[in-house]
Amino acid sequence: MDILAQQRDYYRQRAPEYDQWWRREGRYTLDDQAKQGWDADIAEVTRALAAFAPTGHVLELAAGTGWWTERLTAHATHITAVDASTETLAINRERTAATGQVTYRQADIFTWTPPESTFDTVFFAYWLSHVPAEHLDAFWAKVGHALRPGGRVFLIDSYHPERMPDDLQRRRLNDGREFQVVKRFWQPAELEATPGWRLTAQITAHRHVIHAHGAPAR
Ligand SMILES: C[S@@+](CC[C@H](N)C(=O)[O-])C[C@H]1O[C@@H](n2cnc3c(N)ncnc32)[C@H](O)[C@@H]1O
Repeated sequence: MDILAQQRDYYRQRAPEYDQWWRREGRYTLDDQAKQGWDADIAEVTRALAAFAPTGHVLELAAGTGWWTERLTAHATHITAVDASTETLAINRERTAATGQVTYRQADIFTWTPPESTFDTVFFAYWLSHVPAEHLDAFWAKVGHALRPGGRVFLIDSYHPERMPDDLQRRRLNDGREFQVVKRFWQPAELEATPGWRLTAQITAHRHVIHAHGAPAR
């Protein structure tokens, strides 16, 4: 199976157990000190997102189970939440549908064309690291295409000081099944050098998270 199909399949199968990772439950459990650092980093990036103020119509790419969709509802008038997996979107819907602010869209980001000049913000969390190098230019062009004039971008991802061999990572589900995914760890300076964009990037205090925001350099 090709790598993009494999990572789609992985996240479909992982959907029911995905939030255990966010909550640090089960095999993702951390000791007290590490958990405090994790929680502090999530709180830090949540504050950064609030300071950015993702108001208006937000396009959330790879929205998943809605951990961030839920947080976006505190700011946005409306969110279009896109993900390839009906399984993750079902969980997202359970979490956020009552707000009446979210439209759910099952689509493959690599083949889907967003509506042009529509969104005030394009947001993606833990997604850019899964975009293979040969798809990066087209991905960023898609983000630019979706933004209305004056629109902005905010991204969140996992931070790691070193890249994986070939930017690939083996992942395991609770039942032991294994998959391979693209995992390209970004450094702030690399994100800030994204062609065609003016981005400001930062690592959280406990170095679990990298986040960046900005706009097209036009
Ligand atoms: C690491 S998860 C991030 C989910 C969510 N943004 C979060 O931070 O919890 C990656 C998400 O990308 C989705 N995904 C994988 N390949 C995709 C593709 N080709 N098009 C759209 N979504 C995809 C998966 O279903 C999964 O929900």
